[in-house]
This record gives sequence, C-alpha cells and structure tokens, in this order.
Amino acid sequence: VIYLDHAATGLPRRPEALAAAIEAAGLGNPGRGLHAVQRAAREELEAARQAVAALAGSGVVCFTSGATVALNQAILGWRPRPRCVAIAPLLHNAVYRPLRASGAALWPLPHDGCGRIDLARVAASWVAGTSLVVVGHGCNVTGLMQPVAELVELAHARQAAVVVDCAQTAGLQVPLEVGAADALAWSAHKGLRALPGAGVLVVCGDAVLEPLLHGGTGFDAAAEEMPGELPQRLEAGTPNLPGIAALGRAAASARAETWDWRGAAAALAEAVQRGGAVIVGRGELPIVSFRLPGVAPRLAEEMLDRACDIVVRAGLHCAPLAHRLLGTLAEGTVRASAGSCTGPGELEMLGRALQEIARHGGD
Ligand SMILES: Cc1ncc(COP(=O)(O)O)c(C=O)c1O
Repeated sequence: VIYLDHAATGLPRRPEALAAAIEAAGLGNPGRGLHAVQRAAREELEAARQAVAALAGSGVVCFTSGATVALNQAILGWRPRPRCVAIAPLLHNAVYRPLRASGAALWPLPHDGCGRIDLARVAASWVAGTSLVVVGHGCNVTGLMQPVAELVELAHARQAAVVVDCAQTAGLQVPLEVGAADALAWSAHKGLRALPGAGVLVVCGDAVLEPLLHGGTGFDAAAEEMPGELPQRLEAGTPNLPGIAALGRAAASARAETWDWRGAAAALAEAVQRGGAVIVGRGELPIVSFRLPGVAPRLAEEMLDRACDIVVRAGLHCAPLAHRLLGTLAEGTVRASAGSCTGPGELEMLGRALQEIARHGGD
C-alpha cells in the first residue's frame, strides 16, 4: 500500500517510539506513591516532558490525550474568559467547535483570499477588546502555514494572547517557528509518528488556565481543589505513560533529524498536477488538496484505494471552514499528504494512477 494520508496520522510509527511504549507499559503509576516502582515511572514521564519541552523551545509541557483535548483546555479554560476572540481562517473543528462552545464573540481575521492572514489588515482593523487570538500553524486541508511569529508580535503589542494549533507542524519544523506564542497544542500520532492517545498543551508566559478536568494528581491530596501550579493543574488522573514515553522518544528523534518537507511538498504537488488534477489552494506543507475533473472526490478516493493500492482521503477533513473559503464545501477535496518516509517512486505512482482515473473519468 502507498500511504499518502500522513495528515490524518503518521505511519509507520517510529520503532523507537513503539519500543519506548512497550517498556513504559511495564512501569508503575507516576505520581502515586514514593516507592521505587513509581519513581521509575515518574522518571520516564519527566524525561518525556524534557524531550517535548526541547522540541517546543519554551513553556511548561502539560500532557493530554491529544491535540483536541489540549485545544479544548486552552480555549475553554482561558482566564479571564475572553469576550472577543480573533480567529484565523482555515481552522479545524478541534479549534472551531470549542471556540463556538465558549460563547465568545469571534472575529474572523482578514486574509488574502486563500486563507493566509493579512497582517497589515489585521493591524489596521484590530477589534478593541480582543484578548485572545487562535490560529492553526499549518492547515490540514491545503498545507498553508500562517505567519504565526509575526501574528504573535502584533497581538502582544495589543495585549492579546495567542493559542496555536500545531497539530500539522509538530515534528516537521524544528524548532517550531511560532515565536513567543502563549500556548501550543499538538498530538503525538501525526508528524511525530508516535502513538494516538497522547498529546500536549505547552503553556508559555503567564497564561492562566482553569482546568477542564479535576481529580487526583498525586500531589497535595488534602487540598479541595486542583493544584495551582503547572503542569499538575492540568494533569488530573493517571497519565497514559506508554503514549507519553513514545511521544518523548519521538520528539527527541525528530529534533535530531532533518527532513526536506518543503521539497516533499513541491514533489507532491508536482505529482498531483502531472496526474491532471486541479490543486485547490496551496501551502508550504506536504499536504495537497485537489479535484479530478469529472470525478467526485469520494469516487477518486475509492478508485485509488481499490484499484491502485494508494491511500488518500476525500471529504471535508474536519475543516468545513477551510472548504467554505475554498468553495469546496459540497463535496470536499481529495487530500494527499506525504511523510518523511514517502519515496519519489510512490509519488510517481500517484501521478500515474491519477492520469489513469482522469482518462476513464470514473467510469
Ligand atoms: C489542524 C488539526 N488540528 C487539530 C487536530 C486534532 O488532532 P487529534 O484528532 O489528534 O486530537 C487535527 C487532526 O486531524 C488537525 O489536523
């Protein structure tokens, strides 16, 4: 199988991450007791925290069960509660739905028509009272990257904090080029190719967060409320140590590697175009959305899968806002996304398969 759905989850999982998970599965419960078994577990947890912190560059790493939970925590737990939140275009539902649920007024940031934030227009039209900006670092539909570091500077100059969804960029860009953002979220299972069920919220600066979950932490059990300090404040309950250990090992490996993901993005786009497909939107990441003239996206996905053993994904990719902007809300797009293990031969096969499907027009 030619796997081109890395934006959904990164495969193959890193062998060293799998090994770390298996090792950690035999450990105890970190933070529960002071005995030798718990100490070993705590050491593993804290080593993973350090490795992830090194990837993030700064901030306190709080472990979660994934990007969705981390984003809910940041958005719904932000204090003081923002009355107006500036939102970037192209947001994933993991960001947009908690924003809607928060009840805050949402200010859609001006953009260039393709979804890239227009910083000059943001500065010129800044809505008074906006205290939080929420942005996706990389779009999971088009691969477009937002100018996050510049946006953070602009927002901070107006006393607004910035939360960044790094689900599509963590592990690709080292270090993450997000400037002095106030909170970052990502999952372990995408670009880092660790395991599902683990993720992080990295809290930087002096962000104040009300925990969404309340429970035991192994610290200060007599207190009636969650501890005031991070990361314990946001880590109620028994952590997923195998997933966290895998994440830590993957973060360390990712830092030590170089992957020409920009080159991969160009090669992927070229293969899709060679296949006669029309690219919808364009970005920097190796994620390309496209349509084959005369072939519905779902049918294209099915034909690539059944007839060519090529795995891509059709539909809205949990990002209806992106499709509304791109004019593809009705049927979505076909999305191909490459990973660091994707070879040129696989892209060649994709191009040829698309040509074949286009020739037969989905008959
Ligand atoms: C841009 C973006 N944000 C957030 C998420 C949510 O990640 P998870 O499902 O791992 O919680 C995804 C997953 O597809 C994503 O692509």
